[in-house]
Amino acid sequence: MAAGLGTRMKSDTPKVLHRVAGRPLLHWVVTAARAAGAGRVVAILGHKAEVVKTALDADFGKGSVEIAIQPEQRGTGHAVQCALPAVQNEPDDRIVLILTGDAPLLASERIAELTAACEASAAGLALLSTIPPRPMPYGRLVRDPGGTLERIVEHSDATEEQKRIADTNAGFYAIRLGHLRKDLAALRADNAKGELYLTDLVAHAHKRGGATSIDAPFTEVAGINDRTDLAGVEVEARRRINEAWMRAGVTMVDPASTYIDADVGPLGKDTWLGPNVALRGKTSLGAGVRVDLGCVLTDVQVAENTNIKPYSILTETAVGPRAQVGPFSHCRPGSRLDEDVHLGNFVETKKTHLMAGSKANHLAYLGDASVGSKANIGAGTITCNYDGVGKYKTTIEAGAFIGSDSQLVAPITIGRDAYVGSGTTVTKDVPRGALAITRVKQVNVEGWADRFREANAKRKKGEGEP
Ligand code: UD1
Ligand code: CA
Repeated sequence: MAAGLGTRMKSDTPKVLHRVAGRPLLHWVVTAARAAGAGRVVAILGHKAEVVKTALDADFGKGSVEIAIQPEQRGTGHAVQCALPAVQNEPDDRIVLILTGDAPLLASERIAELTAACEASAAGLALLSTIPPRPMPYGRLVRDPGGTLERIVEHSDATEEQKRIADTNAGFYAIRLGHLRKDLAALRADNAKGELYLTDLVAHAHKRGGATSIDAPFTEVAGINDRTDLAGVEVEARRRINEAWMRAGVTMVDPASTYIDADVGPLGKDTWLGPNVALRGKTSLGAGVRVDLGCVLTDVQVAENTNIKPYSILTETAVGPRAQVGPFSHCRPGSRLDEDVHLGNFVETKKTHLMAGSKANHLAYLGDASVGSKANIGAGTITCNYDGVGKYKTTIEAGAFIGSDSQLVAPITIGRDAYVGSGTTVTKDVPRGALAITRVKQVNVEGWADRFREANAKRKKGEGEP
């Protein structure tokens, strides 16, 4: 169920697309349902359905999550009614899971538990209950004198006495499709909100012997209604993600300041993460990788035993084994660093491939370039790849040596083992093994500096010419 507006988020983004650990809320729920073995997943969408569908298609593959549209939001019962056509060919004894789209932390094991409880239930209905740590506007579980679940009373319909019931409805259900079909048809909007409540199914199940409730910890089922809820769930998600990686052999100096997105991985054994490190998107790290203080890696693949030194920012970049990157390196999308590459401070790369053992240790911009193996890029080298209109390629072949403070005006090729003298502006291809140099001849003027200082000193004392 993901059709609701999410008014309390005060956002232009649909609530279910707000992210926890980099992954949209709804995608957490879909991922858990799949992991629990759900054969088909139907998302009930309404508010900004097109935007939500595009996001689902992008992450799970086009059409892989089916869509049912609830044109206007007339309650959770109505939402599920709108999804019935999607399952019309499924048999009556099929178990359907109904999950709330705004509660991302439900574990797939819990979903499996819920399914098993439904299978065992004579009434064919099981739901998750929870005891919130503070009063919440949740539906209260009302039991008959024998302790059997009789019905759910929504917060806005509850009497003061009912509001004191600790057991609340978490919003996750497993039900036999046959019962769902019949009971949904009998729903009435005779309540404070004038909505069709899905929770009224519990009263129907009472006639069949009562629904089963399974207690779940509140942190796992907490729904997100506003941005403080979102931040709370983010902290919990991050705690869990970090704990799982530490158990898998990753060292974190300060787990509280380590930010790893939900879709990151694998992370190899003996990976070491410094404080304030963020691993985002689909980043993966090989064994023995070190990512030091303040680094941000987004969609980056790093092979084993590479060392990313403090304050390096890498995006959509692939790094080979045993490379040295940083401190203060910036690899922009399309960068590729092969094994044993060294990238030093204030080096920026974009759509650039540095091959094995090549080095750019200080202050350089390499854009749209290919750098052959063992080539050396001197401090202050710039590929002039852009003329205000087009982007052009620089090819530096293996073993070439680019002297400091050189400009390589693309498109250009520096041949194998060639030298470019310091301060050269290269505008013509350099043949293999050649030296390119564009430098004004040096002139030494004997005694000039001494005379200059002397004249200045006199001027200060008021002697000599003004
Ligand atoms: C619901 C339950 C309540 C439970 C609580 C737990 C009902 C009537 N009440 O209340 O017992 O304690 O969840 O979080 O079900 N939605 C639609 N279409 C609609 C209305 C809602 O798709 O017409 C979706 C929302 O997008 C959301 C979910 O259903 O993902 C729950 O809706 P919400 O309005 O948040 O229900 P609550 O009032 O929280
Ligand atoms: Ca809610």
